[in-house]
Amino acid sequence: MKDKLQRARTFEQRYHPHLSETEQPRFHVTGGVGWINDPNGFSVYRGEYHLFYQYNPYDTKWGPMHWGHVKTRDFLHWDRLPCALAPDESYDKDGCFSGSALELPDGRHLLLYTSVRNVRRSNGVVDGYQTQSVAVGDGIDYQKFEGNPILDADDLPEGNSRIDFRDPKIWFEEGKFWAVVGNRSADKSGSILLFESDDTFHWRFCSVLASCHNQYGKMWECPDFFELDGKQVLLISTQNMTSMGLEFHPGNATLCILGRYDREKRHMLRDNTHAVDYGTDFYAMQTLKALDGRRVMIAWMQSWESSGCKLKGLPFCGQMTLPRELSVRDGRLIQNPVREIEQYRAVKVSYQNMMITDETSLQGVCGRFLDMTVTVRPGNRDHMYRYFKVNVAKDGERVTMIRHKPENNTIRVDRSRSGFPHDIVNVRDFPIFPHDELKLRIIMDRYSLELFVNDGEQAASFVIYTPISADSISFSCDGSAIIDVVKYDIEV
Ligand code: FRU
Repeated sequence: MKDKLQRARTFEQRYHPHLSETEQPRFHVTGGVGWINDPNGFSVYRGEYHLFYQYNPYDTKWGPMHWGHVKTRDFLHWDRLPCALAPDESYDKDGCFSGSALELPDGRHLLLYTSVRNVRRSNGVVDGYQTQSVAVGDGIDYQKFEGNPILDADDLPEGNSRIDFRDPKIWFEEGKFWAVVGNRSADKSGSILLFESDDTFHWRFCSVLASCHNQYGKMWECPDFFELDGKQVLLISTQNMTSMGLEFHPGNATLCILGRYDREKRHMLRDNTHAVDYGTDFYAMQTLKALDGRRVMIAWMQSWESSGCKLKGLPFCGQMTLPRELSVRDGRLIQNPVREIEQYRAVKVSYQNMMITDETSLQGVCGRFLDMTVTVRPGNRDHMYRYFKVNVAKDGERVTMIRHKPENNTIRVDRSRSGFPHDIVNVRDFPIFPHDELKLRIIMDRYSLELFVNDGEQAASFVIYTPISADSISFSCDGSAIIDVVKYDIEV
C-alpha cells in the first residue's frame, strides 16, 4: 500500500477506537477526527450504502484531500471503514477531490474522482489542474487505474477551463455509463458537461447539459442529475451566488433545476429553479437510488464561509446532514428525513390543542437528540398571531429560535445565541407556502438542527455549538396559536 494511505489508516487506527461518545453526534456522520467536507461516492455496494467524503484526517481544517469512508444499512447507524483514497500519485498529488461511485457489473466498486495537480507558473502563481480519475475496489481497498487520468483538458470544449473541472457524478442508463462534471465555460461562469462511456475507463465528451450564463452564481460544482416522479432534476452547488430575494443567499449556495431532459440534444430544459436548502449550513449534496427505489440525498452540513468557525477542542470539524428522501410535488423538490429514523424513536411525548399566548414549556418536551413535529394553527382565525416561535437548545443564556411571521409568511431561524464564538451569519429568513396549518419538523443531534417545513416543502440546516446542557424547549406567540406537539428522543 502506498505510504500516504497507510499513514492515514494508521492515524485512524490510533484515534478512532477512542472517540468520545459525548462529543460526536449520535446519527450524523463526522470524520471522527479531522476535517470533512463534501459527501462523495454515496452508493449502493453489495447491498449496503457506502459514503465517502472529502477528508483531511490530520487537522480540523481543509488540507490534503483524502477520501474517508463509512457504510450503513439504515442511514443512521454508520460503521467506520479505513480511509479509501490518499493523494499519492503524480496526477492527484494535490488532492483527491469530490466524485461518485457505482457498483460495476463484475461486482467491483468503482470510484470516479477529481485528481488535482498543482503547477507553479514562472511568476509564482499556482494553477491547480483538475482531471478525472478512477479507482476500483472491494468496499475496503481501492486501486487506482494505471491509465489515469481518464478525462483531462483534451476532453473539454474549446475555451473551457482546465482548472475548474471537477466533481463527476456517474450513473448507468440506456446501456452505458454517463457522468456529469462541473466546469467553467468561456464566459467564465459555470456549466455542467455530460460525458459517456462503455466501460467507465474510456470516456467521450457528449454535450453541455446546462449553462449558468452568469445567472446563478459563477462556478458550478458537485452536480447530480436524475429523474424523479416524472421530472428531470439537476442539483448544483454554486460559488459566488448573489442573493435573489429570500430565495438564494450570497456566496456558496445550492440550486435545484427541475425540468425535462432532451435526450436528442442531451440538454436540460428548465421549468423551475429554487434553493435546495434554506439554512446556513448545507452544500455539495449528492444522491443515490436506494435498494427500494427511493432517491436519497445527503449533503455537507457546513458552509465554506464559516468553515473556520468551530468549537475549540472538538476533534472533528464538519458533519453530514441526515439523509433525506426526495420526491417532486407541485414543481418543487420535496425533502423528508429518511423513514429509518422512526426505528430509533425512543420516549414519545405528545400534546394536542395547546393554546399558546405567552412563553410556555410543556413537560417532557426537551432534549438535544430528537425528532419533534409542531403543528401550528391560529388561536383566533379573525386575529392571526403576529409571530409564533419555537425556542430550542435553551437555557438562561442561550437559545436557537424558529419564528413564523404570517404577515410576510416567512420563517426565521436565529442561532445568534447558539454557542458560536464568532460573528458569522446567524440568521436566515425564507418564504414559505400558505397552508391552513403550519408544520415544523425539527431534527436535533447535539450540534445540529434540521428543519423540515410543511411535509418537506422546504428544509433548512444549521450547525449549533450550544453546550448540551442547554436542552430546554419553549413556545411563544404574539397573539394566540393552538399547537400539537409530538416529540421523540432519538437513540442510535
Ligand atoms: C465543494 C468543493 C468541490 C471540490 C472539493 C474540494 O465543496 O470545492 O468542488 O471537489 O470541495 O475539497
